[in-house]
Amino acid sequence: MRRAVPVAVLALVAMLAAAAAMAETSGLQLIRSKSHSGTPSPATGRLDDIRRLGMLIFSTPFTKADGHGDGPFDPAKGPNFLPGNRPTLQGNGTVLRVNGLDAQSCNECHTIVKNTTQPPTLGIAGVGGMVQDAIIMPSLIDVADSFETRMVYVPGHDPDLPMVTDGVADFNGRLANPPFLFGGGGIEMLAKEMTQDLQALLVQARNAPAGTVTSLDTHGTNFGYLVSSGGGNVDMSHVQGTGPEHIASVSPEEALVVRPFGRKGDNFSMRDFDRGAMQFHFGIQPVEVVGENVDADGDGVANEVTVDEMSFLHIFDVTNPVPHVDSLDQSALAGFQTFQSIGCANCHHPVLKTRGHLLPLATPEVSTNPTANVYRQIDLAKVGFPRVPGEDGVYVPCFADLKRHDMGPRLAESFESDRRGLNNSVFTTARLWGIADTAPYLHDGRATTLTEAIDFHGGEAQAARDAFMALSQAQQNNLLHFLGKLRTPDRPNQELVK
Ligand code: HEC
Ligand code: HEC
Repeated sequence: MRRAVPVAVLALVAMLAAAAAMAETSGLQLIRSKSHSGTPSPATGRLDDIRRLGMLIFSTPFTKADGHGDGPFDPAKGPNFLPGNRPTLQGNGTVLRVNGLDAQSCNECHTIVKNTTQPPTLGIAGVGGMVQDAIIMPSLIDVADSFETRMVYVPGHDPDLPMVTDGVADFNGRLANPPFLFGGGGIEMLAKEMTQDLQALLVQARNAPAGTVTSLDTHGTNFGYLVSSGGGNVDMSHVQGTGPEHIASVSPEEALVVRPFGRKGDNFSMRDFDRGAMQFHFGIQPVEVVGENVDADGDGVANEVTVDEMSFLHIFDVTNPVPHVDSLDQSALAGFQTFQSIGCANCHHPVLKTRGHLLPLATPEVSTNPTANVYRQIDLAKVGFPRVPGEDGVYVPCFADLKRHDMGPRLAESFESDRRGLNNSVFTTARLWGIADTAPYLHDGRATTLTEAIDFHGGEAQAARDAFMALSQAQQNNLLHFLGKLRTPDRPNQELVK
C-alpha cells in the first residue's frame, strides 16, 4: 500500500529545491538574474552599461546550468565535432582540453596584460601564456615520442631493441597562443572598409571587358589582382592573402572578405570569432548559430547564449582600449628607421587610416556587406583612436597589413592540411602594437624573445629576416629597443570592475 505524502512535506521539499537552485545560480544565469529588470538594449543602451555586461560575459565562469559542455557523445553522429558531439575525459561531460572543452570563461586564456612587470600585470582581455594555448583538432599527440612514424636506427644500440625514439613529439593539430583583444575596434573597422573596397573592385572587374586587370589595393595593402574574363566573370586565381583559401569553393564575394582575426586570419569580425569560441571552448551554442529553442548539443539546455548577449560581448570586444607607444629616444628612432628600411614595414605597416570613425555593428552579420543589418555604431574616436586631422577617419597604429602571408617551413604547423585544405605556413600578419608586453611570440608562442621571433621568419619575410640578422649588434639593439616601446594599455577595463 502506498502512503500519501502530506502536502506540507511536499511544499518543504519544493522550497528546499528552490533554495538549492538559488544557491547554485552562477555563470550567465547569475548575470541574467541580476540584470533582469534593467537589461539594456544593445541598440540604444548606455555604452558603459553594455560594456560592463559584455565584460561580465567575457569573464564569468559558465556552468552546466548555462549549458556548459556538450551532451553525451554519440558515435552515430559521426566525426563532426561541432556543435557538441565531442568525447570528454571519462565521459564526464565538461573537460577534454584537446579540441576544446578547455575552459569555463574567456578570461581563463586572455589574462596577461604585461609580462614586462614583475610580477606580471594580469587583467581582462590580455594575452595568454603557453599553458593557455588552444589545442585544435589533432588526431595524434606523440608526447611520449613512441610512434614509429619518425623512429630512427642508432648504431650500437641493443639489437633486440633496434628502434629508438627521435626526440620529436609528432603532433598533427594546431597549437594557438591567445592574442589580446586591445584595439580590436580599429582592426574590425579597417577590415570592413577593406572588404567594401574589394567588393566594389569585384563589381568593376565584372563589368570590364575581357582581359582587363584590376589591382586589389585598399588602405595601402595589395591583395593581388583580378582578370576580367568577359560575360560578368572574373579569374580569381591571382587573389592573394584574403580570407578563406582553405574553404574549397567559395563565391568570389566570399573570397574577397578581409579576415584579420585568428592567427591564420579566418574571421571577418570579432563576433564572428566569438561564435566559434563559445562553441569550441565551452560547448555553449549561440542562438544565432543554432537557432532559437534548439538544444543543438543535446545537453538539455537551449538558448545557451542569446543574440543580445553576443551583441554585449561584441561591443565589449570592439571597445577594448588601444595599445600605446612610449616616447621614442634617439636609439628607438634609429631602430624605427631600420625597421622600415630593411622591409619589416612591408607587412607590419606602422599606421593604417580608416575612412570613417563610426564602426557599424550588425546582426545578423553579412561577411560580404558590413553595412547590412546595422543596429549600432561605435565612435572609435571615443574609445582611444586619434582622429585624422581634417578627415573623418581615425589612425590605427597596429603595425600590420591585415593580410595573410606564407611564412615558410620553419613557422609551418603540422596540421593534417589535406583534412581542411589549410596551408600550414600561412598566417595573418601579427599586429606588433603592444608587443613589448606580450611574450611569448608567434602563433603558438614558440619564441620566448623578440630576436627568436624575427629569426623564425621565412617565406615571404625571408629577405627582411636575413637583413635583420645581417645588422650590426648595435643596429639590432636599436630595433629591439624600438619594439620595446610598443606597449599594451596600462589598466585596461579597470573602470568596468566594480
Ligand atoms: C583555451 C584558451 C582560450 C579561451 C578559453 C578563449 N580564447 Fe580567445 N583565443 C585563444 C586563442 C589560442 C586565440 C587565437 C586563435 C587562432 O589562432 O585561431 C584566440 C583568439 C581570440 C580572438 C581573436 C583575436 C585576434 O586579434 O585575432 C578573439 C576575439 C577571442 N579570442 C575572443 C574570445 C572570447 C570571446 C572567448 C570566450 C567566449 C575566448 N576568446 C575564449 C584562446 C582562448
Ligand atoms: C612578409 C610579411 C612580413 C615581414 C616582411 C615581416 N613580418 Fe613579422 N610577422 C609576419 C607574420 C605573418 C607574423 C605572424 C607569424 C605567426 O603567427 O607565427 C609575424 C610576426 C612577427 C613578430 C611576432 C609577433 C607576435 O605577437 O607574436 C615579430 C616580433 C615580428 N613579426 C617582427 C618583424 C620584424 C622585426 C620584421 C623585419 C625584420 C618582420 N617582422 C618582417 C609577417 C611579416
